[in-house]
Amino acid sequence: MQPKRATPEGTARYRERFEGRVSNNHFREQQGLVLSSIGIGTYLGEADEDTDVRYANAVVRAVQLGCNVIDSAANYRFQRSERSIGQALKTLTNEHGFAREELVICTKGGYLPFDGSPPRNMRDYVNETFVKPGIASFADFVGGMHCMTPAYLQDQLEQSLRNMGIECVDVYYIHNPESQLGYVSESEFYSRLRAAFERLEQNRREGKLAYYGVATWNGFRVPANSREHHSLARMVDAAREIGGDEHGFRFIQLPFNLAMPEGISVIEEAQQLGVTVVASASLLQGRIDPQTALRFVLSTEGITTALIGMSRVEHVEENLTSTDYTDE
Ligand SMILES: NC(=O)c1ccc[n+]([C@@H]2O[C@H](COP(=O)([O-])OP(=O)(O)OC[C@H]3O[C@@H](n4cnc5c(N)ncnc54)[C@H](OP(=O)(O)O)[C@@H]3O)[C@@H](O)[C@H]2O)c1
Repeated sequence: MQPKRATPEGTARYRERFEGRVSNNHFREQQGLVLSSIGIGTYLGEADEDTDVRYANAVVRAVQLGCNVIDSAANYRFQRSERSIGQALKTLTNEHGFAREELVICTKGGYLPFDGSPPRNMRDYVNETFVKPGIASFADFVGGMHCMTPAYLQDQLEQSLRNMGIECVDVYYIHNPESQLGYVSESEFYSRLRAAFERLEQNRREGKLAYYGVATWNGFRVPANSREHHSLARMVDAAREIGGDEHGFRFIQLPFNLAMPEGISVIEEAQQLGVTVVASASLLQGRIDPQTALRFVLSTEGITTALIGMSRVEHVEENLTSTDYTDE
C-alpha cells in the first residue's frame, strides 16, 4: 500500500467539487497536482487552547471553501499548529467526506520546535530532547536555535507526521536556511544543504515526503552580494546531482506582498527551473488591506499559491468568498 498523500487524481477531484463556484484561475496545476491559489498558513497566534481550536476550525472551513493547500512548521506555536491541522484533518475525513489525497499538506523543519510552550530551561530542553537521544549535538544548533543536519531533519519530519496524523508530507521545507549564513561560510552552507537534500531524497523514496524545498524570509529577497543570499540555481543543481532529473526540490516559499516585492526575479527564475513558488506573508502579517494585498499577489505571474495566515473562520470566509482576485 502506498502511503497516503496528495495525488493528481485526488487534487483534480477536489477541483471538481468547486466547478462553477470559484474563478477560472483559482486552481493551478503544478508538479502534477492541483493547488488552490490561496493557502492557509498557521504561523501567528497565541500558544493556547483557544487558538488551537480556532485554527482547527479555520482549516476545516478553508478546505470546505476551496483551499487545499495547508502550510505549517514544527515550531509554529510550539507544534500546536501542526496538531491543530491534525485535528482538522480528522474532522475533514471523518465528518465531511474529504480524502487525504485531495489536500496538499506542507510543513517545515529547522528551528527548535519546543513542545506546546517554551521550555523553562532551554539548555535542559535541548539536552533531553536532542542531545541525549543522539539526534543532534549542542554545536549542531547554529545560533542556539537552527539545525539542518540530516538526523535532526529526520527527527523533525517524523515528529511532524505524528503531529498531523499523516503518513506523508506533500511539501517539506527546510525552514529559513539563511539563518545559518550569518554563522558558517557559503561553502559550508551548501555542503550542509546537500547533506540535507540527500536525506530528503531518501525520505521521498521511502514515501515520507513527496517534494521538498526551502522556505525563506530573506534568502531570495536580498541582493547576490549579501551574506544571506540564496542561489536558487545552485540549490537546484545540488538537488539534480543527488536526485537526478526527477529530483524532489520542487517548491520554494518566500514573502511576497505589496511592501516586499523584491522576490520577483527569483519567481521568474523558478519558473525556468521547474520550481513552484508559494508566497508567504501575503497580507504583510495583517498590516495591509486584505483585498488589495490579495489582488496584488494573486495576479503576479509565477506565484502558484499565496499563503494567508488565518486563525479565524471569519477571515477564511472573507478571503475565500470575496471578489475573484485571479480573473482580473
Ligand atoms: N519564513 C517562512 O517560512 C514564513 C514566514 C512567514 C510566513 N510563512 C507562512 O506564510 C503564512 C502567511 O503569513 P503570515 O501568517 O505570517 O502573515 P499574513 O498572511 O500576511 O497575515 C496573517 C494575519 O492576517 C490576518 N488576516 C487574515 N485575513 C484577514 C482579513 N480578511 N482581514 C483582516 N485580517 C486578516 C490574520 O488574522 P487571524 O489569524 O486572526 O485570522 C493574521 O493575523 C504563515 O502563516 C506561514 O504559514 C512562512
